Amino acid sequence: MNQDQYRILSKRFDRRDGHKLAAYEADGGYRSLKRAVGELGAPAVREEVKASGLRGRGGAGFPAGVKWGFVPQGAETVYFMVNADESEPGTFKDRLLLDYDPHAVIEGSAISSFAVGAKLCVIYIRGEFGWLVDRVQKAVDEAYAAGYLGPGAFGGAYELEMIVHKGAGAYICGEETGLINSVTGQKGQPNIKPPFPAVSGFLGKPTIVNNVETVAAVPWILEHGAAAYRRFGTEKSPGTKLFSVSGPVRRPGVHEIPLGLPFREFFTDWLGGMADGEELKAVIMGGSSVPVLTAAEAMETALDYESLAAAGTMLGSGGMIIIPARCDMVELIQVLMHFYWDESCGQCTPCREGTGWLHRIVKRLRRGEGAPEDLALLERVCDGMAGLTICPLADAAVMPMRSFLQRFRPEFEALAAGRRATEPDSRWAREIRS
Ligand SMILES: Cc1cc2nc3c(=O)[nH]c(=O)nc-3n(C[C@H](O)[C@H](O)[C@H](O)COP(=O)(O)O)c2cc1C
Ligand code: SF4
Repeated sequence: MNQDQYRILSKRFDRRDGHKLAAYEADGGYRSLKRAVGELGAPAVREEVKASGLRGRGGAGFPAGVKWGFVPQGAETVYFMVNADESEPGTFKDRLLLDYDPHAVIEGSAISSFAVGAKLCVIYIRGEFGWLVDRVQKAVDEAYAAGYLGPGAFGGAYELEMIVHKGAGAYICGEETGLINSVTGQKGQPNIKPPFPAVSGFLGKPTIVNNVETVAAVPWILEHGAAAYRRFGTEKSPGTKLFSVSGPVRRPGVHEIPLGLPFREFFTDWLGGMADGEELKAVIMGGSSVPVLTAAEAMETALDYESLAAAGTMLGSGGMIIIPARCDMVELIQVLMHFYWDESCGQCTPCREGTGWLHRIVKRLRRGEGAPEDLALLERVCDGMAGLTICPLADAAVMPMRSFLQRFRPEFEALAAGRRATEPDSRWAREIRS
């Protein structure tokens, strides 16, 4: 199968000087923005994106065109924010778009801003991606100089200001209301919803937040049409999706696939199967916050929102972690629980305390200091967290915790019965303590 036929978002990743404006324009770049402003108008752009069925690629999979429609009609001031915080463990796809095709992200952001009537667009880039802040800023400068952004753009028909904002270095700043607060200069802590940002966000005005990959698909959709986009993927999960794959497979990295592709085919044809001497044990399909699947479950599912939900997990951000047979699942969940505990913003007691408890109980199990009751205690702590907090970070810890306990229970039971983990101080555990 020719895998290149599915490359909509990644088609320019190998392009020499692909990040520069001249190369982007030579490849037809900014044609969609010109057409959107000069020919189509905002309502038609919104309709086309809605018809394409493009779903948000930041994790929740909410349809982009529908979200844009939540901006109150007649709102005078609207803001658009591009979520390039990309901090979910296992996820590293947006950084490639920002690095190799920043103008596609800028053009998609400008069209999306135009569609919702925003005059200011903020691209919020994860603080640790310092070099990408420079990369995108240079591309934004080029777009201003070429007359695609700023005063006088399109003969005054659409003047958009675009700001590149360096993030504050916290996972929680990727949650959309945390991101908005961070841009405002406040602590990057989420707000209770409603109101949703589309109604009241940045400075109390309607604000649309979309993921990098979501906006990067928009120029292609306008150029080729919603029907062409729908030729990829399934009815409910149209289009293509970037998966960032880590773990001991032959071809790890970022792969673009049509949604609905059976995992088995992806694993064999795209990833080339496991590396020599490795055996598949489990798969985290969509970033560390989604439930883990056993190898057998993974092999029976397909990579789209509905199939993964039916399999008991989620597509999430597409951060796929391939787990080999040699992996100690209790050690892995200890690493993940440490992450959520460390990244909890601390506003909600169930999250602030619960993530700490989950981490400590797993840690003591691994030290050989656990007790058989600890497994029930882990479940009880999860029950006291799920769905009870301001934002979904607590659920993002609970979902993997519960699924590890359910699917790999014998490994927890062996520790709870008094066996000490063979290597409690393995490299991962040492790294997270340092
Ligand atoms: C704890 C947490 C972290 C998140 N991190 C990100 C992130 O790094 N990037 C992202 O696009 N969305 C992230 N999200 C989801 C955003 O809140 C939001 O749903 C998304 O940016 C909307 O864009 P989309 O509709 O295009 O997917 C996060 C959500 C939570 C709860
Ligand atoms: S759930 Fe956790 S991260 Fe989210 S607002 Fe509450 S304390 Fe903060």
